[in-house]
Amino acid sequence: SSYQVIILAAGQGKRMKAGRNKQFLSIDGKPLLIHTVEAFNHDDLCDKRILVINPNERSEIEELLREYGYEDLVTLVDGGKERQDSVLAGLEAVSRQDSIVLIHDGARPFVTYESIQKLVKEADHHGAALLAVPVTDTIKQYQGGVLTTLKRDELWAAQTPQAFQYSLIIEAHQKAKNDQYLGTDDTSLVERIGGHIEVVQGSYDNIKLTTPEDIEKAETIIHKRSASTRT
Ligand code: CTP
Ligand code: MG
Repeated sequence: SSYQVIILAAGQGKRMKAGRNKQFLSIDGKPLLIHTVEAFNHDDLCDKRILVINPNERSEIEELLREYGYEDLVTLVDGGKERQDSVLAGLEAVSRQDSIVLIHDGARPFVTYESIQKLVKEADHHGAALLAVPVTDTIKQYQGGVLTTLKRDELWAAQTPQAFQYSLIIEAHQKAKNDQYLGTDDTSLVERIGGHIEVVQGSYDNIKLTTPEDIEKAETIIHKRSASTRT
């Protein structure tokens, strides 16, 4: 089935310490935001791309999109203070209630076509699905002293995209807002209302660019990929 995607780019990128929104950072000669938009470019199943932005950056983003020829491909929506506010603004721009909605971090440029297709299928069958990878470190729960060691074979590191039936995710977000509950991802809001969520195993390369060290990691991933697709 087809889907609509919300790409979040309305943050400040404080941890990147670039002095401005990390979405404009050049990665291998192209802005991070453009890399992420392109991950959904050649996908006929994607019937709307909603890009959530900071209103102060609208004209700069419009200009970038024009430069790459994507101005007609995406719908711009103003985001909010917290990521969760930006998601809700994006959800309000979804144009089909019977559609699957993908919610994706603009700072995560390496999501693959295969992962997207699997997510859409699982969300269609089960209501919600997220991309995640098995945790490789041993995780300790600590509150002024170690309380316990979590069972590693049950732990998954959550990524985006996260995919949902529209009716489920809009209900989860509206309830979170009413309760003034702030989650760290979107599936956690669905957990609160008891929805079933499937995990789709993703790739360790699907990184979110968060700190300056991630820029080098990202360029390594790009070079590795272009080497493997070269004929
Ligand atoms: N985001 C958003 N609206 C917000 C906050 C975040 O759209 N109010 C987006 C960011 O642009 C980013 C994604 O959510 O693509 C994931 O958030 P994160 O990695 O935390 O980015 P920032 O909030 O920009 O960075 P930081 O937390 O370091 O300031
Ligand atoms: Mg943030």
